[in-house]
Amino acid sequence: MRTKVVAANWKMNGNLELIDSFIPQFLSNLKSKDDTKVIFCVPSVYLSYFGEKIKNSTVLLGAQNMYHKDSGAYTGEISPLMLKEVGCKYVILGHSERREIFKETDDLIAKKVKQSLNSDITPIFCVGESKDHRENNQTISVISKQLSAIIDTLTVSELAKIIIAYEPIWAIGTGLTATSDQAEEVHAHIRQEISKKDYNIGQQLSIMYGGSVKSANARDLFSMENIDGGLVGGASLDPIEFSKICNSAN
Ligand code: PGA
Repeated sequence: MRTKVVAANWKMNGNLELIDSFIPQFLSNLKSKDDTKVIFCVPSVYLSYFGEKIKNSTVLLGAQNMYHKDSGAYTGEISPLMLKEVGCKYVILGHSERREIFKETDDLIAKKVKQSLNSDITPIFCVGESKDHRENNQTISVISKQLSAIIDTLTVSELAKIIIAYEPIWAIGTGLTATSDQAEEVHAHIRQEISKKDYNIGQQLSIMYGGSVKSANARDLFSMENIDGGLVGGASLDPIEFSKICNSAN
């Protein structure tokens, strides 16, 4: 049995007022289940505040990015040690918005993944193809290349600790969700690529789907053999909608 994971990616959204109203509504609608992890990746300035509010719940805290050094002259950056100190157990790395807008390369992302593991923070490592890639039948080769950055640099025991998120770029924030079959095909490919390095790890890794996940499509997606939950952007800003998505992972 693989662990189901549902994570909220608030991106650069939300404020103290939303946090205050969101958490009680969300928690009272969340059906408690021990086998699904629910993670909130909120803007870094709100991590401590959010962490304080969820401390008596089963919900976990994650960040949306970090730098691959523990401290030093890196103005504007946040280190894994800092994330750990404020209670973060997870960090999203390699999100397509980081790759596209902030020009993060496979090499930089691989360094971040390694450093997060050094600090016992679980990376949610994102991969995904663009609309052009998909239309030109390059989906599988693009995903393989993004994956190779970590398969080639992590040890087998490091690889065993990561979570992968497949997020087709054309589906992010567009309302265009990949069909369950489209997502399943890529998830199965990801599992196969990891399995080439270590069969058991390939079978055990949690692979989440992201890209316009809503309560209306979550159950179908999460019921696919190789889809172990979701990374949710827009719909995670609504406490009722997001609780329904989390409950669908059961
Ligand atoms: P979306 O974003 O759910 O708004 O499409 C998902 C993500 O970017 O993680």
